[in-house]
Amino acid sequence: MLDSNKIIEDFPILSQEREGKRLVYLDSASTSQKPQQVIDKIDQYYREYNANIHRGIYKISVRATDEYIRSKELAAKLINADSYRNIVYTRNTTESINLLALSWAGRKLRGGDGILLTEMEHHSNIVPWQMLKERKNTVMDYIALDEKKRLIDMEDFEMKLEAKPKIVSFTAASNVLGTITEMEKMTKMAHDAGALVIIDGAQAVPHMPIDVKKIDCDFMAFSSHKMLGPAGIGVLYGKEELLEEMEPLLGGGDMIKSVDFDSCSYNELPWKFESGTSNIEGGIGFGAAIEYLDRIGMQNVREHEKELTVYAIKRLREVGVTVYGPLEDQIERRGGAVSFKVSGAHPHDVAQIFDSENVAIRAGHHCAMPLVNQVLNEDSVSRMSFYIYNKREDVDAAIDALAKVKKVLKIH
Ligand SMILES: Cc1ncc(COP(=O)(O)O)c(C=O)c1O
Repeated sequence: MLDSNKIIEDFPILSQEREGKRLVYLDSASTSQKPQQVIDKIDQYYREYNANIHRGIYKISVRATDEYIRSKELAAKLINADSYRNIVYTRNTTESINLLALSWAGRKLRGGDGILLTEMEHHSNIVPWQMLKERKNTVMDYIALDEKKRLIDMEDFEMKLEAKPKIVSFTAASNVLGTITEMEKMTKMAHDAGALVIIDGAQAVPHMPIDVKKIDCDFMAFSSHKMLGPAGIGVLYGKEELLEEMEPLLGGGDMIKSVDFDSCSYNELPWKFESGTSNIEGGIGFGAAIEYLDRIGMQNVREHEKELTVYAIKRLREVGVTVYGPLEDQIERRGGAVSFKVSGAHPHDVAQIFDSENVAIRAGHHCAMPLVNQVLNEDSVSRMSFYIYNKREDVDAAIDALAKVKKVLKIH
C-alpha cells in the first residue's frame, strides 16, 4: 500500500495554504499535480544539456537524445509494448486520436464505413470521428449504457457489431462515470467482427496496470499531464505493423530518411510521425513521471484509489448526494472519477463554495456533453477525482464543504 502522507511531501504545490486552509486537490482527472522529481528533471535538462535531439554529434545533444528515447522506453515498458518503436509522441490524447482519424482512418475508410464508439466518450474520441464523417461520409454509432447508466450494455455492443464497423474506439475508463470498460473482452469481440480497436487510455494508464499485449488493442492513446508529467506530451501506442502501414500526417524535418527535389522517404518508427523539433523537455519530464509511478507500482496506485473511491462514494451517499457511475459494490468496475449531484444546488455553485474552503473540484459537462446532456439528462455535474497524493482527510474536507453548500444555499 502506498503512503499518501509521504507522497504529498514530493508535491510542492500541495504544501500551500489559503487563509489557513491547505489545498485539497480533487481534480486529477483533469490534470495531475507534479512531483519535485519531475520538476527537477526538466530543470536539469535546461541547466545541463539543453540541445536539439537526433541532430548533434556533440555530447549534450547525445545526452538529450538518449534521455528522450529512454522516456519512450519507459512508456513502452509501462504498458508492456514491445519497444519504443511502438510509442509515438503527440501533444496529448486528443492529438493521438486525431492522428488516427486523419491518417489511418482518413486514408483507409470509405463512405458508409462504420465507426463504433460508446455513449460515455470524451469529446476527443467523438469530434475527430464527426470531422471524418463530414469529409468521408462514414457512419457513426454508439454503444449504449445499461439501464442504470453505470456499465456498457454488452448485448447492445454485440448487436451493433453486426453492422461490421471498421473501427471500434472506446474509453478504458470514463472521466465522468468512472466506469472501467472490459477492454480485453471488447477488443476480442471487435476483432472477431473484423474491426480495428482504438482505446482511449487517458483515465486508465495513469491509474492502473495496463498491458496492451494482453488487451491486444491496435492503438491506445494517453496523456503525460494526467500522470504526473508535463503538459504538451502524449502517447499514441500502435502495433508495429499498423504504424508501418500508416502514413505520416505532417511532413518536415526529423520525419524523413532522405529528401531530393522531387520526393522523400520516411524515417523509421516512431520518428516518421514526429516532424520538426520535438517537445524535448516534455518527453524527458514524462520519463521522470513514469519512473516515479513505477517506484510506487501501478497496482498500489490502483488499490489506493479503490479504497479512497469506496470511502468517497459511501460518504457522499450518506449525506444524500446522488453519485453517478458504478457504486461501491462495483469498485472493480470503476476508477477514481466520482461525479455527483446535490439536489437543489447548481454544480457551479457547489464548486465555488468548495473553492472557498480551498477544495478544488470540477463542475460542468467534463468534455462529455453527449453523455452528460443526453444520457444523464443533466446540463452539468460536479466531480471529484483522486490520485496518489489524496487521502481520506481530503474526502472528509469535501464532505465538510458539502455541509457548507447546504447551509449557504439553504438546502435541507
Ligand atoms: C477519457 C478522456 N479522454 C481524453 C481526454 C483528453 O485528454 P487531453 O486533453 O490530454 O488530450 C480526457 C481528458 O480529460 C479524458 O478524460
